[in-house]
Amino acid sequence: MNHFTTVEHLSASTIHALLQEATLFKEGKTWMSSGAPLIANLFYEPSTRTKLSFEVAQRRLGFQLLDVDAETSSIQKGESLYDTVRTLQALGASAVVVRHSDQRFYEQLKDISIPVINAGDGHGEHPSQCLLDVMTIKEEFKSLADVNVAVIGDVYHSRVARSNVQVLKRLGANVMLAGPDDWVNAPELGCERVSMERAVTTADVVMLLRVQHERHTKDGRKDAADYHEQYGLTLEREKRMKPGAIIMHPGPFNRGVEIASELVEAPRSRIFKQMENGVYARMAILKYVCAPAAEFMAHSREPIK
Ligand code: CP
Repeated sequence: MNHFTTVEHLSASTIHALLQEATLFKEGKTWMSSGAPLIANLFYEPSTRTKLSFEVAQRRLGFQLLDVDAETSSIQKGESLYDTVRTLQALGASAVVVRHSDQRFYEQLKDISIPVINAGDGHGEHPSQCLLDVMTIKEEFKSLADVNVAVIGDVYHSRVARSNVQVLKRLGANVMLAGPDDWVNAPELGCERVSMERAVTTADVVMLLRVQHERHTKDGRKDAADYHEQYGLTLEREKRMKPGAIIMHPGPFNRGVEIASELVEAPRSRIFKQMENGVYARMAILKYVCAPAAEFMAHSREPIK
């Protein structure tokens, strides 16, 4: 059984196989889960893109959806994450997609015998966002090798950054970080810290991160206009980007903070393409955890090592 909870142990060949699956789905290939199995979505934190694109992916693959409303379920009576997921398993769910504010929440679920998909664990990881981001970059540059990626902003609180940096480096990209001192303090990522000027003028991919207001203490908050001036992608900075360089942001984006509002749909922005690719990436992940290994490999162009 495959879980999809962290990118830590995903080999480059498994990532490539997932990307191939996602691309084939985008090209119109189909795969249907047999017997319309139930799949549960359990979101303890708000979500638009991740939750809805998992739902679209699940419907396209023929799953029946079990949508757990954290606000009206017995979570409100104090039921634990383990007991909630164990209940979903007892009700017949064949897999569960979970977003939770606890970093590495999935370690509480090690005795659960259905696949667990991490849809975001606190400021830990966001592995499905990582797959759609890598898919978007690969579509643009064909390969990740030697692509210069500048990850900019609230790195410290970003689960997107933590997954993306690991995988981008594993696939051969050069990753640099830029942003305020207290938010780019992530030595465990092993990336060079650069100025905004260098990030914007040398990157092939300017990957902006959302300012995670909900994870900041009162002392850690920054003025939105100051942030935009110092670390945002302003209209002036965009003019200094390389020809062919692209803008990415996982969303939701704070217009006028991480990015000038006019740039959200600029010709070099891939922000809405990321969202579109999210459906295909999540179809690939669902197949990876739910299909027999032979079926997953059969759909791919190369075997998983
Ligand atoms: N990118 C992302 O995780 O967006 P949502 O919080 O809307 O799911």
